[in-house]
Amino acid sequence: MELWDRAADILRGNDRGGWTVPSADVYPYQWLWDSGFIAEGLAALDLERAFKEIESVFRGQWKNGMVPHIRFEGGDTRFYPRGEWDSRRHSGIEHETSGITQTPILADTAHRLYQMSSEKGEADSGVGFLERVYDRLRGYHLWLWHQRKFEDTGLLVTLHPDENGMDDSPMWDGPMSRVKVSEEAGEMAEEKMRTEPDTLSGNRPSEDFYAKNYELMVELKTAGYDTRSLDEDYQFRVLDVLFNSVWAKSNRGLAKIASVLGEEEDSRLFLSWADDTVKSMDDIMWDPESRIYHDYDTAAGRRIKVRTVGSFTALFSGLEDKKRAAEVARSLEDPANGFATEYMIPSTSTMEESYDEGRFWRGPIWPFTNYIICEGLRENGLEREYAGLRDQTLELAGRSGFRECFTIGGAGTGVGCFSATAAIVLSLLSQGG
Ligand code: GLC
Repeated sequence: MELWDRAADILRGNDRGGWTVPSADVYPYQWLWDSGFIAEGLAALDLERAFKEIESVFRGQWKNGMVPHIRFEGGDTRFYPRGEWDSRRHSGIEHETSGITQTPILADTAHRLYQMSSEKGEADSGVGFLERVYDRLRGYHLWLWHQRKFEDTGLLVTLHPDENGMDDSPMWDGPMSRVKVSEEAGEMAEEKMRTEPDTLSGNRPSEDFYAKNYELMVELKTAGYDTRSLDEDYQFRVLDVLFNSVWAKSNRGLAKIASVLGEEEDSRLFLSWADDTVKSMDDIMWDPESRIYHDYDTAAGRRIKVRTVGSFTALFSGLEDKKRAAEVARSLEDPANGFATEYMIPSTSTMEESYDEGRFWRGPIWPFTNYIICEGLRENGLEREYAGLRDQTLELAGRSGFRECFTIGGAGTGVGCFSATAAIVLSLLSQGG
């Protein structure tokens, strides 16, 4: 069977009736950023179904506008933690969800779906979709702005490692090293290790990582998931390149959506937010020595100098300075930086001590970030680099299947039949790969 048909089959198999699980075995609910990529892939097959994917994410939106990173649906309780988030106490909705958000890709995706509807001569259905989701997206962006804006910059803070999708990346090691684990969180981590499916052993984060991860959850829950009530000593407050680049891009998407709907004042506001973000990324995240963007640990007051794939997602933010964009692309290909591997792009530079070939975000290549960087390269006119990365990403899936991630040698790791990988293959093939 052709790659295209196999990818479409995976998305059909993981469809739960208008929404998609990332993988049937290990991730049996709906994840925010997965559904963004999934919706775009689905759009290549069936635009109406793609609209539904985005709309279904909003079934988990809290009354205050927050869109959670997981929306639990169905009785499958294999995933842990679930009830521990205690979301209903804080969300104002019936649906069970997590209490944190995830890289805010939805407005960018919604705008892309609208564009695809126009290209197919079905702009009316695209506008109908935008009308249905606009208030949801607007509420979400306002929540992010009010809850997460860092001081007088245009950057947002992430409060938990799962919030940007790069769960156990070494970018978090500094802030995580300062988290003190309570007994409650320690016991939860033990429970996670007991319930972890065997298929994942060797790939997953350590028990210590989970204990800290749960500690942050407990502290956020104690604050009612409201930054205004969060303990001043809360140690995990990071400005990360991926989250902020996507935030900037999504604000540009939302500005265009607002314009289509005649909301010009909103449109100007979202555009100004995007510009502020890009400017602050240059002021705070650009590292003049290493000549790449770095995440910033606000509690420690310094840049996190670990080189991860996240640095290159800056290309997606709509960088003003095209020379800067070319420079970022050059750093990606510079062998001294440890990303120019047989297959690209490892989630952590092979030059870092923390690099670990098979372990989740500490080494393997992820289609999520490859796709974001492909788009960034393309938008900056870096056609050769774009085509190279697109072809490699397709080759990985062709060679090793629709795995969650891949080693730099091209072997599949993590779960199989992974929806986002299938969706990204469809999106890349649609671009003529
Ligand atoms: C893993 C990934 C995360 C993704 C989730 C569901 O936790 O690290 O990015 O959203 O799986 O697929």
